[in-house]
Amino acid sequence: MIETTLTVQHNQPIGTISPRLYGHFAEHLGRCCYDGLWLGQSDTDIPLYGGFRQDVVDALKAMPVPLLRWPGGCYADHYHWRDGIGNPRKTRLGMSCGLQVEDDNSLGTHEFLALCRMLGAEPYLAGNVGSGSPQELCDWLEYCNTAIHTDLGDERAANGSREPFGVRLWGVGNENWGCGGNYDAETYAREYRRYATMLRHVDPTAELVACGQEEDWNGRFLETNQRHLDLMDHLSIHRYWIHGGPEIDFSEAQYYGLLAEAHATEDFVCRTADQIAVYADKLRHPIGIALDEWGVWHPEARPWGPDGDKHRSPITYEQAGTLRDALAAAVALEGFHRQCHVLTMANLAQIVNVLHAPVMTEGPSICLTPTYYALQLHTPHLGATALPVEVTQGAIMPGSEQISAVTATASTKAGKTAVTLINRHFDQSASVTLLANAAAVESAQVLTADDPRAVNSVDQPERVKPAALAVTADGTGCWRVELPPHAMATIQFA
Ligand code: AHR
Repeated sequence: MIETTLTVQHNQPIGTISPRLYGHFAEHLGRCCYDGLWLGQSDTDIPLYGGFRQDVVDALKAMPVPLLRWPGGCYADHYHWRDGIGNPRKTRLGMSCGLQVEDDNSLGTHEFLALCRMLGAEPYLAGNVGSGSPQELCDWLEYCNTAIHTDLGDERAANGSREPFGVRLWGVGNENWGCGGNYDAETYAREYRRYATMLRHVDPTAELVACGQEEDWNGRFLETNQRHLDLMDHLSIHRYWIHGGPEIDFSEAQYYGLLAEAHATEDFVCRTADQIAVYADKLRHPIGIALDEWGVWHPEARPWGPDGDKHRSPITYEQAGTLRDALAAAVALEGFHRQCHVLTMANLAQIVNVLHAPVMTEGPSICLTPTYYALQLHTPHLGATALPVEVTQGAIMPGSEQISAVTATASTKAGKTAVTLINRHFDQSASVTLLANAAAVESAQVLTADDPRAVNSVDQPERVKPAALAVTADGTGCWRVELPPHAMATIQFA
């Protein structure tokens, strides 16, 4: 049994945990948008809200989904928004990540924005740089947002929305160092400058997201645009965890490997923040970091990277989501909270069926993965003030030199404190003493299973789901909790 003491540091607030840190990503890839979210006018007995699966929408509303990025991903740099408005729609070659499909464009701008309204999600549209033009993206922005009586505004009204949509977040391309055009950093920087200048004329309130990558690209991009940094609100970076071995039959070492990779996401955010900070005295407004794709990408669902030769054929980008993946997500979210002063958004990839999906569908059935519940257990932190949690005693995670096996994140909102704890240890329980400066426990739930390899399925949908957790006062102002191995929990204090 691990013994750990955790202290919530109420007097050192880090910043506000923007709901945008709990964003999601829906790409026209595999069965994510088409089939997973959208069935359109298809002849089906599955109940729909205007073409979207009711069961999926209801589950997502309860997760929740405060932000949704669409339509890609790599798909975005082939997407022509006009194909997805009005009637009839164009059937095009749908392309992303090596897949080619018949794409009837029945899920277009109006439908996506209706989904966002249903979910209570802020929309984030990814624009086409790779095969598009500044004019095409300016037109999409005008179509969505103008309140002035223009042809594009009238067309939007004729298509059902007299009121402007007011979409704030716009991506200027996606992974333009790769699938979005194979640019070099300097060329993309100049291209970005041109797009952003024109977009700002159309809607000065739009928040623009530039494509970043690793240190080398980011440094060269920022240097090239150092006199134009006002044209950028967020710098996009992506992080997929790919070193965890098989999706289900992983070893103990691979279990720790994946959690360590998730943990290292925070360092990547910090290094990117340091690169932006070099230009701090030139900035009239801060540039945030948009980690707008993150999550686990197992070898079964990709033809590249470690063990990529073991992928399933054909590749569907679907993978099993175990309890380990849920814990990895919780580990990353801890880091997001700690970096909430520089990280302005984060989008889990992807929302349904594909990659690190919280929701899976199979015919008329739906299944919530352990990651769904991990995210749901973080709900009290959205919009709250992040507080550091000090680990003053405890075991180190095997395989690492300094990561504690038991960690936590805390936040406070409206006089209540929420603490989310993780016991990363593969097979040892943890006895936790928690100093939270709180008078009473309002609720406490734990997410675990007999095995970190546990998955939910349509046949066994509740193998991994939250259960009540006992939290006891020890009489000295501390709270005592026993955490099973490979578990996470959220305690909401009154
Ligand atoms: O999420 C799948 C793909 O991963 C996206 O299309 C792309 O941006 C990234 O490489």
